Amino acid sequence: MRKPILIGNWKMNGSLHANQALMVRVLPRLRMFRKTIDLAVCPPFPYLFQVRDLLGYTGIALGAQNASSFVSGAYTGEVSATMLQEMGCRYVLVGHSERRALFAESSLEVAARYRSVLAAGLTPVLCVGETLAERESNQTGLVIERQLQAVIDEVGLAAMANGIIAYEPVWAIGTGKTATPKQVARVHQEIRLFIANSAPEASDDISQQLRVIYGGSVKAANAFELFSLADVDGGLIGGASLHADEFGTIAGALAEASGLVASECEIN
Ligand code: PGA
Repeated sequence: MRKPILIGNWKMNGSLHANQALMVRVLPRLRMFRKTIDLAVCPPFPYLFQVRDLLGYTGIALGAQNASSFVSGAYTGEVSATMLQEMGCRYVLVGHSERRALFAESSLEVAARYRSVLAAGLTPVLCVGETLAERESNQTGLVIERQLQAVIDEVGLAAMANGIIAYEPVWAIGTGKTATPKQVARVHQEIRLFIANSAPEASDDISQQLRVIYGGSVKAANAFELFSLADVDGGLIGGASLHADEFGTIAGALAEASGLVASECEIN
């Protein structure tokens, strides 16, 4: 059984004041679901310390939005995975499309970062997805397979078993356009199939174990439908994770879609 997971990606948003206000409102709502689903938030680096304290013992995990491929040294502006581990992070986003498109992170670079996250004992959340032009020219499968293959080549398939893959169509991120359930179901199935076919022996188990989550304009209004899809194990939420009611409702939708309603969860 794959435990569903919901991850909030705050991107470059927040302030000491705003983070505190958001956490005060959202944590009581999220805590209701923590037994049913895994939950995490990924604030910008400078706020990790603050958010770690605010999360306290809620059981909601801390994540980061990127990590360097290097462990330490003369790499101005980079943050290493071991530093993130020391700060209490459990998850690290790797290869978000904004990193790939705006900061020129190639699939090779992403794979190296993935390796460093694993080496620090953290769980990488590998983001993959196609642009609109790629979708319109029927390249979706090919693009995603290349993005996955770069990581498989770097760390091996077995090392990915406990990682998470986030399918995020670039054209759906921050645009208000969500992929249709049919589009999402198809890509998630293809990802699992690609993993299953990627290596001999154990790859079938790995493809069944691996969590594949969806991201791209998920909101309260569409979350349940997307999370009800068989191969969708949760969500990576950008804009909506900055709104307590919205994020709380999305968490509820994931808990419900995974077969347990809030009343069956621990409430305290
Ligand atoms: P969005 O972002 O929910 O604002 O579309 C998702 C993401 O970039 O992870």
